[in-house]
Amino acid sequence: MPEISPEIAVASLTPEQAAAELAALAEAIARHDRLYHQQDRPEISDAGYDALVRRNAAIEARFPELRRPDSPSSRVGAAPAAGFAKLRHAVPMLSLGNAFSEMEVGEFVARVRRFLNLGEGDPLDFVAEPKIDGLSCSLRYQAGWLVLAATRGDGAEGEDVTANVRTIAEIPQRLPAGAPEVLEVRGEVYMLRDDFLEMNRRRAEAGEAVYANPRNSAAGSLRQLDPKVTATRPLRFFGYAWGEVSAPLATTQWLARQRLAEFGFRLNEPARLCASADQLAAYYAEIGGRRSDLRFDIDGVVYKVDSLELQRRLGFVSRAPRWAIAHKFSAEQARTRLERITIQVGRTGALTPVAELAPVTVGGVVVSRATLHNEDEIQRKDIREGDTVVVQRAGDVIPQVVEVILGERPDGSLRFVFPDHCPECGSLAVREPGEVVRRCTGGLICPAQAKERLRHFVSRDAFDIEGLGEKIIAAFWDDGVVRTPAEIFRLAERDRASLTPLRAREGWGEKSARNLFEAIEKRRAMPLERFIYALGIRQIGQATAKLLARSYLTLAAWRAAMAEAADRDGQAYRDLTNIDQIGPAVAEDLLAFFSEPHNLAVLEDLAREIEVQDFVPLQAQASPVAGKTVVFTGTLETMSRGEAKARAEALGAKVAGSVSARTDFVVIGADAGSKAAKAQALGVTTLTEAQWLQLIGV
Ligand code: IVH
Repeated sequence: MPEISPEIAVASLTPEQAAAELAALAEAIARHDRLYHQQDRPEISDAGYDALVRRNAAIEARFPELRRPDSPSSRVGAAPAAGFAKLRHAVPMLSLGNAFSEMEVGEFVARVRRFLNLGEGDPLDFVAEPKIDGLSCSLRYQAGWLVLAATRGDGAEGEDVTANVRTIAEIPQRLPAGAPEVLEVRGEVYMLRDDFLEMNRRRAEAGEAVYANPRNSAAGSLRQLDPKVTATRPLRFFGYAWGEVSAPLATTQWLARQRLAEFGFRLNEPARLCASADQLAAYYAEIGGRRSDLRFDIDGVVYKVDSLELQRRLGFVSRAPRWAIAHKFSAEQARTRLERITIQVGRTGALTPVAELAPVTVGGVVVSRATLHNEDEIQRKDIREGDTVVVQRAGDVIPQVVEVILGERPDGSLRFVFPDHCPECGSLAVREPGEVVRRCTGGLICPAQAKERLRHFVSRDAFDIEGLGEKIIAAFWDDGVVRTPAEIFRLAERDRASLTPLRAREGWGEKSARNLFEAIEKRRAMPLERFIYALGIRQIGQATAKLLARSYLTLAAWRAAMAEAADRDGQAYRDLTNIDQIGPAVAEDLLAFFSEPHNLAVLEDLAREIEVQDFVPLQAQASPVAGKTVVFTGTLETMSRGEAKARAEALGAKVAGSVSARTDFVVIGADAGSKAAKAQALGVTTLTEAQWLQLIGV
């Protein structure tokens, strides 16, 4: 690669040197644009970037005849340093659960029927449509005009891409009369395969970097800071869902699709109304067969319960609707050489083997590492270093090693011996009976665990500090800049007194340091459920963290309860394990966390720096059952246990598995047993199903 030689003054460059340097600058600037705009991982400071752009302009000014077709200066406004503004979605943007086999689809259908308490003869229709691989977007129309467009982001908050979306010809700026006053249309921004290939061909010709696949290309094109750039990209849009609407679109998904079409949106076709799991399977097979004939990439199909009333009843779990599922196509595969097996140490000390591969393209993406899951998996497949292996990618899932091509095994290769010591800290690594995972026993002295915990702490669903990605926090940890969560919040203060302030670090500048400090300030208030999740306690994922928050409401109450629950015979322990879905195993992991003095110190330290917000039960004011503990027993008539529980929780109630003096209501269905009797004995209010429905206003 030609060199950039800023030490030579522009005035003394020869034409040859100038031409070589312009080529190098075009390449370097394009690369930094990509890192910044598309991958969000800049490698140079804003000032460093500006210097490159200025140098390029100065050379071009002196040698106008050497100006290149791909000159960075012809990309208007290539470098505004601000990102996109954040927009809160009026209605969260959900993602989808996945099914990878017909069996899993069958289970999905059965699950839906069970939840809705449908009888065998009761009909249940689904809309089946292609699952297009692009970037989801929400378009908000008011009084018929497109007023806002946002990416999905984390589902709650996305990026404001209104200006860019206005450049997409397929998206109506104005809706015809008859459209609701407020309408948020959701769908996918994508690129046709042919358009993608043609665009890449032109980019290659102009010496610009090419995109890996249509999906990346659509995402990169939409997330350009300059809408003029987006305007040159062949983006398209399919509408398949909606967010806030001031008036219902229709009574079924199928008819709602027709409404979207009437408003001028393109729909993802071919779609079909299906009445059974068999019909879904036939659709899947048919689309799978036509996959390569479609003009766009799809990674599966989506099934949605057709009735919108049933969709409403089904609601959602965590981030995905209960009424829809994505049925993925089988993964794309490729062969490559497994060069080495390395061991990663996770935040809970788990040793995970990783295959380091000779880079290979699988389904449009270059893969150089794959997970090997655990030691049994390596033994079972007898995977060895030096083997030729088949790797596959299924959607967003981490690449996997499927099998070894034994015929190509080199002579003298040896079985892989899984280490019994932690490769990071040297502590003994043990495998508890019945566990598949071997864990480092080094706990807090293990740097890998400490680092991973910190990474988890700043991850998207936890503290999600803008500009403090997992890579940066890992680098901060390595350099001793930040070693505990609380230190993140003291960073700005310490930086002022530091001899090596952040702005002096490689890749940082005045501005990026200031932005980071501001982003950190914004996270000084954190909802309890996110806080609990961020602690990275074993088995405490988002859903469990939320259950805990809902049950204990405040940080102080939770901590006190966890301390008391150390007594396995006491009330606090019984209360904990009585929370629906928290069993003894999860309880043990929680208590293990709280029995470790270092964890308490970290927690204490952190609590001094930030404000943990009390859990606010949803619809708390409006609901007579908010904050109450409810137990369902016996067979309910109008709904399944699952639906009853989901509804109660949506109204802010806690659902428990057994009756105690602290239970507020026991809802008694048919053939109820001992729980009803126990409620009576304890004087707990009992309700019939009808009374319960009346209480919650159904
Ligand atoms: S419906 C509430 N339908 O797939 C349901 N999503 O893996 C929201 N996607 O986030 C999604 N094609 O970006 C739906 N026909 C389709 C889709 C589709 C692609 C995307 C969407 C979603 C992701 C989940």
